[in-house]
Order: sequence, then structure tokens, then C-alpha cells
Amino acid sequence: MVRPVRTFEEVLNISVGITVVGIINVDEKAQTLTTVIWQVLQWKIAGLSWDETECGTTRVSILRENLWVPDIHITEFTEEDKSPITPYVYINSTGFVYDDKLVRVASSCRLIIYTFPFDVQNCSLTFETYLHDTVDVTVTQSTTAEEVLEESLNEIRTEGEWELVGVDIVPTLLILDDRNYSQVIYYLTLRRRPNLYVVNLLIPSCFLVTVDLSSFLLPPHSVDRSAFKMTLILGYTVFLLIMNDLLPATGETTPLINAFFSLSLALMVASLLETVLITNIYFNSDQYSVPPHWLSVLMLKYLAVLVCIPPKIKNNKVTIFLNQAMNTISSRDLQNMSRGGDEDADADADADADADAEKPSPERVLEELKNVRQTLTAIRLQLDKRFQGTKRSQEWQEIGMVIDRILFGVYIIFISVSFIIIISIWTWESSY
Ligand SMILES: *[C@@H]1O[C@H](CO)[C@@H](O)[C@H](O)[C@H]1NC(C)=O
Ligand SMILES: *[C@@H]1O[C@H](CO)[C@@H](O)[C@H](O)[C@H]1NC(C)=O
Ligand SMILES: *[C@@H]1O[C@H](CO)[C@@H](O)[C@H](O)[C@H]1NC(C)=O
Repeated sequence: MVRPVRTFEEVLNISVGITVVGIINVDEKAQTLTTVIWQVLQWKIAGLSWDETECGTTRVSILRENLWVPDIHITEFTEEDKSPITPYVYINSTGFVYDDKLVRVASSCRLIIYTFPFDVQNCSLTFETYLHDTVDVTVTQSTTAEEVLEESLNEIRTEGEWELVGVDIVPTLLILDDRNYSQVIYYLTLRRRPNLYVVNLLIPSCFLVTVDLSSFLLPPHSVDRSAFKMTLILGYTVFLLIMNDLLPATGETTPLINAFFSLSLALMVASLLETVLITNIYFNSDQYSVPPHWLSVLMLKYLAVLVCIPPKIKNNKVTIFLNQAMNTISSRDLQNMSRGGDEDADADADADADADAEKPSPERVLEELKNVRQTLTAIRLQLDKRFQGTKRSQEWQEIGMVIDRILFGVYIIFISVSFIIIISIWTWESSY
């Protein structure tokens, strides 16, 4: 009925030992860890002993409720104990009680999922007496941390997502006002097995980014490239929606993997925008004005070399008029050229008919030749104008090509750097 000590000044030493036999669940949202442990309590009943040979046994089992049992509990408990009830304890011939029972522990644990799916969690199980302070009862560990780990690894039954990688035991004293309570804290270190997430989340995501990267090899002036990238973004969004269920959620921290996904999506969007820009340059550049001199020099002379585009040899063909009279051709003539082409053709047809009828006089031939020359010059001028327009848009297109190459390089560098940073954070944080 009372604490089994010889005198009440004596402190009862209770040793606690655990063996982890199952890791049932780690719930990130509820911040709980569910484990199954074997919990062994041992203490001595002072003054109880018997002679082994005379009684014929070294130990007997008796009902636990017939004994004084310490009120040891786990402070992290969040649910009532649903473990099966084991009614018996052993007492050996020197008076030691051996109380072994199975406990299903649903304990609260601060789970940090920043490095998900490469996270390592550190959860504690604190054993202490509820009522008795250090004047009456002290709690000690019965085995070393290495023994606990070794035995647990031998006995563990459920091989789920989590792997037990370490155990720490820290005996401490809880000091409250005027009373001290002795405690033993078991720290369980659990590591997540990341394979599922690597195969289902990271590798497909990397594939999509690689495809996006390779789409830079498509010619920028075909509309296909932007359509291709658009489809990729759509596919990635669907992928994210499906995979959202696999990601853990807590309000506290955002896992780095979410940043990884956002980054991948952002890169895809950025490369789509870049494609829109380049396509615009390719198709609308004949409406742009001449590119500013500094821009063409910077782009075509320096940056082009940087991105390995050989500089083009410029063809500076310009029409020069030897006959000053020809400069008098006005824009009215050009308009006549384009509008009144049919009239001229009729006139020519008439002329031919006349030629058949009678021999042309030299004046008339001269007149005709002058007409032809005028027409040819007009055509030449028109062509020059067109040619200059194409030259302008060609320059813009070259600039566009250089920009495309530069942004491709920047994209590759950015992807490599950010992925290397993320991967090193993962390896660094999970290197237990
Ligand atoms: C309990 O342990 C303390 C030190 O660990 C020791 O001094 C004391 O004698 C022990 N008490 C009993 C009843 O064995
Ligand atoms: C009784 O149990 C204690 C603690 O486990 C042990 O030290 C002791 O040797 C045991 N006595 C016998 C007779 O087995
Ligand atoms: C777990 O946390 C406790 C307390 O913060 C610390 O003493 C212990 O070393 C940690 N264990 C590991 C493996 O980090």
C-alpha cells in the first residue's frame, strides 16, 4: 500500500528502460508522433527476499494491482493510452520488481519539415513521476543509449517511411517552486526515407525543367516554341496539383521543396516570357525604327562574341545616281508606278500594235526608252527602300538572336546555381 522502503527518508530508485518496436505514424499537421514501445520499470521492494533453493524458484509473477506501483508517465502524451493491458509483474528472489508492458505512445513532437523529404526529426519521450518528487522517488535510466538503439533496431517491426537512426538519453531535474521532479528524457532521432518523394516529385520535376531548357534549341521565330512552353507550364501545373497531396503541411515552416517547385514554375514562366519577346522581335521588327547605335554595337560586336555567334559581314550596297536628272523622280512617280501599272501595260500593248503597223520614228523610240529608264529607276528605288527595311529588321533579328542566346546562358546558370544551393541545403541538413 505504501512506498516499499525501509524508512520513509529513503529514496526509491526506479529505473526506466525502453525499446522502440514500431513507428506507426508521424503526423506533420497535428505535430504528433505515434510509436509503440516496450517500457520496463524496475525497483526494489525493501525487505522482500526468499531462499531460492528452499522455495524452488527465483521469481514469481503476481498481479500488478496487488502492489505499490510508481506513477511513471510520459509527459508528451496527447491521447489516452490505448495499449493492451498486461496485468502481471515479476518479483525475483532479491526483491526486485520487473514491470514490463507495451505502450502505444501518441506523443507531441515539434516536427520541422523545412528539409522535407530529407528531414530528420528529433522527438522526445520524457518519463517522470506524476506525484512523487525527488524526496520520495528518483527515476534513472537502466540501459545506455547505444543498447536502447541496438535492441530497438533488432526488435523494430514496422518498416514504414521512417527509420530510427539515433537515441539520446538525458537524465534531468524538473524544478517547480519548491519541489524537484526527476526525469529521464529519451530523444529519438528519426529519418524519413525519401525514395518515394524523390521518384514521384523531384525526378519528374527535373525532367520537365530539362525539357523546358531543351526547348531553347527550337528556332525562336517559329510559333511552336511558345506553344511548346505553354503546354509544358500547363503540364507542370497539373503535376503540382496532383502532387499537393503528397506534401506535408504545417503552418510553421514551408518546406524547401515548395520553394523548389515554385522556382521551377517561375523559370518556365520566365522562359515563356523570353520567347514572347524574341518572337515579337522577329515578327514585328520591320515596324521598329533603326536600333540605336550603342545597342547594335554592344549586342553584335561584344555580346555576340561572348555567346559565340560569328559577326556577319555587312553588305553596304547603296544606289548611286550618276545622272543628276534621275534624282528628280518624285514620290508621285512611285505612286503612279504602283497604282497605274495597268495603264502602262495598256499603253505598251498599244505601242506594240503600232510597231507592227508602221516603222517607229527615232523620236518615238527615244521617248519610249526614256520611259523605260524612268520606270526601271523607280523600281530600283522601291527595291532599295525595301532592302533597307529588311536590313533594319535583319539587324533587329540578329540582336534578338544574341538576346536569346544570352538569356539561355543566364537560364542555365540560374538553374544550376539554385539547384546546387537547394541540394546542398538538403545534404547539409540531413547529414545526421
Ligand atoms: C538510489 O540511488 C542513489 C544514487 O543513485 C543511491 O545513493 C541510493 O542508495 C539508492 N537507493 C536505494 C534504495 O537503492
Ligand atoms: C533480480 O533482479 C535484479 C534487477 O534486475 C538483478 O540485479 C538481480 O540479479 C536479480 N536477482 C536474481 C536472484 O536473479
Ligand atoms: C535532440 O534535441 C535535444 C534537445 O534539444 C538535444 O539535446 C539532442 O542532442 C538532440 N538530438 C539530436 C540527435 O540532434
